[in-house]
Amino acid sequence: MTRQELRERLPGACPCYVPGHASTGCDSTGYDLTRGKDQIVKGILKKAFRPWLLRSARWLVPRSLARSFSNLAALSRMSAWLRSQGPIDCGGDRMALYDRVLRAEGLDAPIDYLEFGVYRGASLRWWCGHVACSEARFYGFDCFEGLPEDWGVARAGTFDVGGKIPAIDDPRLEFVVGLFQDTLRPFLAGHRLERRKVIHMDADLYTSTLYVLSQLAPWIRPGDVIVFDELGSLRMAEHEFRAFEDFCASFRLSVKALGANSLLETFAVKVV
Ligand SMILES: C[S@@+](CC[C@H](N)C(=O)[O-])C[C@H]1O[C@@H](n2cnc3c(N)ncnc32)[C@H](O)[C@@H]1O
Repeated sequence: MTRQELRERLPGACPCYVPGHASTGCDSTGYDLTRGKDQIVKGILKKAFRPWLLRSARWLVPRSLARSFSNLAALSRMSAWLRSQGPIDCGGDRMALYDRVLRAEGLDAPIDYLEFGVYRGASLRWWCGHVACSEARFYGFDCFEGLPEDWGVARAGTFDVGGKIPAIDDPRLEFVVGLFQDTLRPFLAGHRLERRKVIHMDADLYTSTLYVLSQLAPWIRPGDVIVFDELGSLRMAEHEFRAFEDFCASFRLSVKALGANSLLETFAVKVV
């Protein structure tokens, strides 16, 4: 008897097509008895192995795959963000970008400059050297023991300078030594960041970047400038870029791009 004939003879019967079955309470696999042996075996195998396969799949996906997909997904969102920004003023190295932003935004003023990720002090030294205003204040945050976690192929501990603080002779500058996760909240408890701010994020990692921005959120105001050393990184989009977009989305913060270096890696954005 064909399926069609059964359906015609037994209108409203159980979808397993076994005569006499009620449509509720039937524990059949859904394979009717008119099917061949092969199909019944297939049905049993499917019933037995499918749940096992679906459960196992969760343990079988390699970590490297997750990383590549996560980076690719972040890259595609980065492209969308870049398109939303219109033409980007880009060119030169990162110092050339700092210079353009400093002039265009009038940052030689009584600003609070906070840098997260100082290492040997290349970027911090630049800012101290180019902001002449005596009332500007500079804060350099770092543990000086390197990255606390792996960053792609760079292992935890990369950029370790054995706790040595860079020699930058500037009375306006204060170093805050330790993990951001340990030092930033006590710092914020003792400092009112009411002035216009330049926040320089060069900590590479998603966790470090997101933690810092989230803690600073109550102090961030329109007009503040945030520099991201690796925002446009192709290989590491799942770090600074992802932290940036998660932060902006979570705190409903609007920013516009002020410019980038020629490789579109280092970006400066302004809170609007
Ligand atoms: C790329 S280096 C900074 C480079 C520096 N701005 C320059 O211009 O040469 C990154 C730094 O971030 C620091 N860092 C990253 N995450 C941190 C965290 N959670 N707490 C403290 N330091 C951190 C590392 O110790 C490292 O020195």
